[in-house]
Amino acid sequence: MPQDAPDRRTIEAVIALATRAPSIHNTQPWRWAIGDSSVHLFADPERALPTTDPDGRDLLISCGAALHHLRVGFAALGWATVVHRLPNPAEPDHLAAVTFIARQATADDIALAAAIPHRRTDRRRFSSWPVPAAMVDVLAERASCEGVVAVAAEDPRDRFRLTAAITMAAWQQGMDAAYSAELAAWAGRGYAAVDGVPAANTPSTPVRHGDVTMRTFPDGALDAPPAASEEDSGELLVLATTADDRVSRLRAGEALSAVLLAATDFRLATCPLSQPIDFGPTRDALREDVLDGIAFPQIVLRVGWVPVGGEPLPATPRRPTAEVLGGYPSVKAPHLGGTR
Ligand SMILES: Cc1cc2nc3c(=O)[nH]c(=O)nc-3n(C[C@H](O)[C@H](O)[C@H](O)COP(=O)(O)O)c2cc1C
Repeated sequence: MPQDAPDRRTIEAVIALATRAPSIHNTQPWRWAIGDSSVHLFADPERALPTTDPDGRDLLISCGAALHHLRVGFAALGWATVVHRLPNPAEPDHLAAVTFIARQATADDIALAAAIPHRRTDRRRFSSWPVPAAMVDVLAERASCEGVVAVAAEDPRDRFRLTAAITMAAWQQGMDAAYSAELAAWAGRGYAAVDGVPAANTPSTPVRHGDVTMRTFPDGALDAPPAASEEDSGELLVLATTADDRVSRLRAGEALSAVLLAATDFRLATCPLSQPIDFGPTRDALREDVLDGIAFPQIVLRVGWVPVGGEPLPATPRRPTAEVLGGYPSVKAPHLGGTR
């Protein structure tokens, strides 16, 4: 590989780091290809969830999160990235072509990359300590750098509308046998699994934290903490875009990753909540009632502090890097270099 791009071992190491990104039900719906001086991200439609995610929104958000993790990994190693999103209209699964410019890593680049292995989806109760407004502002700023707005549901009316939508969507999906079957196929995984949501990371009983109904996963094994003596002060952020096309969803995933990594760097706990967006009527209600009809909601994020004494959560598994590399004989973007 020429000097104007990282060598193959470095690229494979950064792809391995990128696969630590969150994904809907830990489906990891991505594939990667390495070109002469480029890296390419593809959606893997075989890992789609047609019932849970009928629009393929969560799949694109998951891939966008992996793309941002990749950018962060390269930045920390002294490579700024130039990203061409959806570079080939004839191949819609080709989500991004990434090329490189050598550039000194900043302390921020290194802090974000260091946050990747520590980030977890945390579905437990959060403490009563509020998230400081200054931190919420920084998280919103991170999203806006990715072209995405992060709206904190601070106004009690907005909070009520948002939590009502979350509850309504969870109830509707819970009534849907096909949704439950799809969830059961991806949840309750044991230690040998390489994908899906491990039992160890999901509560053993249905959970509601204050006014927020969490997604209920079957066969959970995460014990609920003793009865809450304190209120849960988790903050809710809605990530939204000005359009609802595929590139906007990919960008929403990049913003999700940017917010999650910044939050992890602050030692905040986080949990994405996609149910109110996946269910059409509540998605429309959020757009009209919380976003005043001017932006499209893409995902909700719960952010807060782990209560004192809260145990670290185990890392969820990932497929081996070799399994997500290759499988695309040619990258049809010749100006960006062929695969090898
Ligand atoms: C687009 C998207 C939607 C998600 N939706 C939910 C959700 O509604 N509820 C939930 O508990 N976790 C949700 N998650 C978190 C995933 O389940 C989690 O990322 C995955 O199991 C891997 O675990 P990790 O984040 O701890 O690495 C979502 C993640 C993504 C990227």
